[in-house]
Amino acid sequence: MKSELYSTYAKRYDSVITDNIYNAHLERPTLLSMLGSVSGLNVMDLGCGPGVYTQHLLEADASKVTCVDYSDEMVQIVKEKFDGRVNAYQQDLSLGLPNEKSANVDMMICPLVLHYLEDLSVFFSEVSRVLKPNGYIVFSTHHPFADFECSKTGNYFELELVEEEWDTVGTPVPVRFYRRSLMEITDAITKSGLVISQLSEGKISEKVKELDKDTYERLSRNPNFIFMKCSKLGD
Ligand SMILES: C[S@@+](CC[C@H](N)C(=O)[O-])C[C@H]1O[C@@H](n2cnc3c(N)ncnc32)[C@H](O)[C@@H]1O
Repeated sequence: MKSELYSTYAKRYDSVITDNIYNAHLERPTLLSMLGSVSGLNVMDLGCGPGVYTQHLLEADASKVTCVDYSDEMVQIVKEKFDGRVNAYQQDLSLGLPNEKSANVDMMICPLVLHYLEDLSVFFSEVSRVLKPNGYIVFSTHHPFADFECSKTGNYFELELVEEEWDTVGTPVPVRFYRRSLMEITDAITKSGLVISQLSEGKISEKVKELDKDTYERLSRNPNFIFMKCSKLGD
């Protein structure tokens, strides 16, 4: 969904996430540890944002990198940073991947995007269509147990649109995202024909102990993100 955080503040978001606690010291190390070798692979960065992961995919020798994001500003940043080395275009992932051929991509990443999509079944059935047999996707999203703390309905099993203000870029920006049960995520995956091959709840980097002791204590005791690797079985 359209968000000021990723449009008006796209450039600031880019500089902030380079070394902040949640992205750089919790989310990225965990997701990267689940990727495996991407050398020679045709890969997609879904909800690429300002391309921090795109850079990793290029440095890790992916043979082809396609980046998509809802935000025109993010797509522009990625085009400027990786001029001619990636194919980047605007796409609302809630509508799937209509520009992509079936059974064509080896590996996809989708870090911190799924909570912005209302219906995960469209997304995962499109991922399953576009992946080659034995291909896989690695994604991260808000941990359902963490998000339940901000529920207004008190019904864990009901999809809920949550509205908050986040200080990510140093000023309060309104954000909206979907809170959902763990079962809603796993059902969308398995109904699409994908198989969950790895699950992680992340591990806060030890470096955070020196940066911010209270946040380190909280994130080493409470779940914040959930990570899954999902594979498309071979023929
Ligand atoms: C938290 S940022 C993550 C960026 C990047 N994946 C990373 O981890 O550095 C979320 C990104 O998802 C994008 N996004 C949100 N809703 C989307 C949608 N429906 N389709 C495609 N991208 C979307 C936003 O524009 C934003 O760039």
